[in-house]
Amino acid sequence: MSNDGVNEGRRRFLTAATSVVGAVGAVGAAVPFVGSWNPSAKAKAAGAPVKANLANIEPGQMIVVEWRGKPVYVVRRTAESIANLEKMNDKVRDPESNEPQQPEYVKGVGRTIPGKEEFVILLGLCTHLGCAPMYRPEVGAADLGGAEWLGGFFCPCHGSKFDLAGRVLKGVPAPINLEVPPHTYDTDTVITIGVDQEA
Ligand code: FES
Repeated sequence: MSNDGVNEGRRRFLTAATSVVGAVGAVGAAVPFVGSWNPSAKAKAAGAPVKANLANIEPGQMIVVEWRGKPVYVVRRTAESIANLEKMNDKVRDPESNEPQQPEYVKGVGRTIPGKEEFVILLGLCTHLGCAPMYRPEVGAADLGGAEWLGGFFCPCHGSKFDLAGRVLKGVPAPINLEVPPHTYDTDTVITIGVDQEA
């Protein structure tokens, strides 16, 4: 019967769709895209600041917030990944971020506002040709250098690699570190992207 045929087909489709979602979840590749606090499209086009709530980000998790039509990566780093940053100093091109890639109030190898090292805020655009780097926090990822890899970002377009502070590794096409956008803490768990931290 034709109705049964349609329903059978739909059941098969739903089963397949569920499997895909399950697979993505299993490898931890799903990154929430947060938009609920954003202002209207018109305000965003004009460059309005946007707020991001950090309270529900799990250690090791990243969210993406749209600001000025660009993705901003907000990563809650684990204590281990913060400690690992020092070990990357001789593997990255500009360990102290001396080249202009961040506001002057962002400091240190972790590239945050001092005292806020747990959350790193980065523009999610590769500094080579602007692709969106993938979040790859798994220490020892076999396809990214094995034991050498302590977590970070991998750009699938031409293979650039960045550590978990967005610092570019040596010997890849990207010339400079990922940019840190202007941001400020309204509270311990709410930031505004697009507004500079007051001195
Ligand atoms: S755009 Fe990222 S490596 Fe080329």
